Amino acid sequence: MSKPRPKETGKITIAIDGPAGSGKSTVAKRVAAALGILYLDTGAMYRAVTLKALRAGLSLTDEVALAELAAATVLEFKQTADGTYHLFMDGEDVSTEIRSVPVTQAVSAVSAVPGVRAVLVQQQQRIGRQGGVVMDGRDIGTVVLPQADLKIFLTASLAERAHRRWRELRAKGCLVTKEEVEEDLERRDAFDAGRPVAPLKPAADSIILDTTALTIEEVVAKILALSSSFWAKQEG
Ligand code: DC
Repeated sequence: MSKPRPKETGKITIAIDGPAGSGKSTVAKRVAAALGILYLDTGAMYRAVTLKALRAGLSLTDEVALAELAAATVLEFKQTADGTYHLFMDGEDVSTEIRSVPVTQAVSAVSAVPGVRAVLVQQQQRIGRQGGVVMDGRDIGTVVLPQADLKIFLTASLAERAHRRWRELRAKGCLVTKEEVEEDLERRDAFDAGRPVAPLKPAADSIILDTTALTIEEVVAKILALSSSFWAKQEG
């Protein structure tokens, strides 16, 4: 594997998209750390708006209210004492609560609302324009950062993704069966890929990486190698 460029010059913009459980966030976080650039978890932003909507008792079909709520929400990623980035919603650290079952079940509906997407995409683009970022989501290569230097679409078989998610949940003490996790992933994939606005799909110029038989380290190494080839071409 070739060495990544030093962080001072690491202004590369990397888009990582893919279905739930494809390993996007783990991989994106590690790639960003290796390159010394920012990692932005766009799914966490949709989850935070969903949490706020659930707390406010909003109907998930009230698109106007959901878009207004998104516009009235301040989202910030801040580094905490342990060095990890947490998401703050209106000043409150919601990093744990946005992973709860009720939020996970409701987030596809909220993220399908065009007004909600318009608000969050604008914030994501503002951050993306500065460069030096790895952003993961569903529409980063297609809508948020169509000019990204490197676009990766991560996939893995449904069974493998369900197995990974189930292992993660079990480690957190969450008692679900693999079948339940698989059903939830299938439902979310179908919803995310079938929605009319910014559906989950690879950008025409993205590199598709099937991670079914790869370890996290192997996927990270492949993306870092692609990032090095990008720089080599720039200098070439
Ligand atoms: O990556 P995740 O599971 O945390 O994403 C939560 C939900 O948000 C998922 O159902 C798809 C949606 N999402 C989206 O529509 N666009 C993004 N850029 C990121 C996530």
